[in-house]
Amino acid sequence: MKGPHWSWYLLIALVALAPAGIRLMTWPGFKRQAPEPQMVQAGQTLFVHEWKANDPLASGDGLGPVYNAASCVACHNQGGPGGGGDLTHNVTTFVYQSDAEAAIRRNPREGVVHAFAVNNFPRETLNHLHSDLPAVSQPRLDTVITLPGRTVSSNHCAVVRPVVQISQRNTPALFGANLIDSIPDRVIIANEKAQRLRWGFAPKKSEDLPVGRALRLADGRVGHFGWKAQSASLADFVQAACANELGLGNPGQTQPRPLSKPYYQPVSYDLTLEQCDQITAFVASLPRPVEKLEKSSLCSDALAGRELFKSIGCADCHTPNVGNVEGLYSDLLLHDMGQPLEGGGSYNDIPPLPNPNKPPSDPNDPPSPGEWRTPPLWGVADSAPYLHDGRAPTLEKAIELHGGQGTRAARNFASLSKTEQGQVIVFLQTFRAP
Ligand code: HEC
Ligand code: HEC
Repeated sequence: MKGPHWSWYLLIALVALAPAGIRLMTWPGFKRQAPEPQMVQAGQTLFVHEWKANDPLASGDGLGPVYNAASCVACHNQGGPGGGGDLTHNVTTFVYQSDAEAAIRRNPREGVVHAFAVNNFPRETLNHLHSDLPAVSQPRLDTVITLPGRTVSSNHCAVVRPVVQISQRNTPALFGANLIDSIPDRVIIANEKAQRLRWGFAPKKSEDLPVGRALRLADGRVGHFGWKAQSASLADFVQAACANELGLGNPGQTQPRPLSKPYYQPVSYDLTLEQCDQITAFVASLPRPVEKLEKSSLCSDALAGRELFKSIGCADCHTPNVGNVEGLYSDLLLHDMGQPLEGGGSYNDIPPLPNPNKPPSDPNDPPSPGEWRTPPLWGVADSAPYLHDGRAPTLEKAIELHGGQGTRAARNFASLSKTEQGQVIVFLQTFRAP
């Protein structure tokens, strides 16, 4: 009798090998290709380019009319292109809701008060938001919040709360952004579940417990980037940054309308999607931060610091590994960090503030003023100042200012001996820019 046809053997082999093949194809590192060198090159040129009004590289009105800086690298530059930025480049955000609007519970308006405007355009100032606010375009941080350890500055702008809330955002470093981008949504949601399970489905009331939430955006994707986790992908954030920071409108994000000329209509987009993709490719090519010791004599301190970091609860939120990404030190979840750290105002056009009459635990709610995404600590030794608006000049200050869900860990840190506190700091100082 004739044996089975050879093609049966082939079929059996294929069926047997399929699981391995599928595993390989879905392997997180596998589907992510390194960005193409030409794209990276072109993106680097755009990232460092000093944009001008009617710039030849743009197809619309070019830079502005309102903008925060003339290039990406003007803000992202500590330790090289793509790094973090200092206080002078902080971005000012606002939430505005008049009493009348609040009475009919209309969503508040939010956005950015841009620091500059091109020629012939009036600059945006806080005064455009409310007549009681000064006509400054770039308020110093100490006029927006009371800096730790200082008294309220005489020209404090927070006077018209709650009609207008003003806060600032400090520039984060972009090193390793490609790895954050590669983390699947389900991994972030698994972090959220793990925290809820661990703390027994704690309701929102028990603010002290480090139970974070994954931010679900309107389209169902999970936020990865931004102080408020407001962007699901690197490409989305780059498009928003082009529009919001430089006034370079693109198919992904239209440029903001100047507060001083709300009816201004740009003639066309400034950038094509391809140009945005090139910038994304450049950002994605930036290497990840590294862990290194300045002096080998500190090795035992760093190791002791790492243990303390876990035992006093820092790693509850600053989780060392997420999915396949090692050494990130963030769960990428939003945590309520307490009233003193509140700051409303969205950097992107994202959903309105939560309805105050609804419990704030709905996963689809936009971030509340006190909620912040745990910032990854990789590279943290080279990215001062700290916290969302850069109010903490040192690592010690950043830890001390943890409130809300971070209160307990901050208290644990404060109750360590000076030597032990020093060990935690030595450990954090091993996280360097590449
Ligand atoms: C005026 C300073 C400034 C300029 C100019 C600027 N950025 Fe940023 N960048 C920021 C600030 C501030 C944030 C944090 C915003 C937030 O999360 O609300 C940020 C965040 C980012 C992030 C998200 C990082 C993360 O981990 O969450 C990316 C990506 C980014 N910027 C890319 C760019 C690109 C690309 C450009 C140029 C098109 C650019 N930025 C121009 C200040 C700036
Ligand atoms: C409940 C979650 C949580 C816990 C626990 C926690 N953190 Fe944080 N951490 C955050 C969030 C959220 C921020 C950002 C807050 C902001 O910007 O206003 C932050 C910010 C920081 C920063 C500043 C990072 C930057 O780039 O600006 C450092 C440093 C830091 N944490 C270290 C620690 C240490 C050390 C511990 C333990 C003592 C700790 N954290 C415990 C959530 C947490």
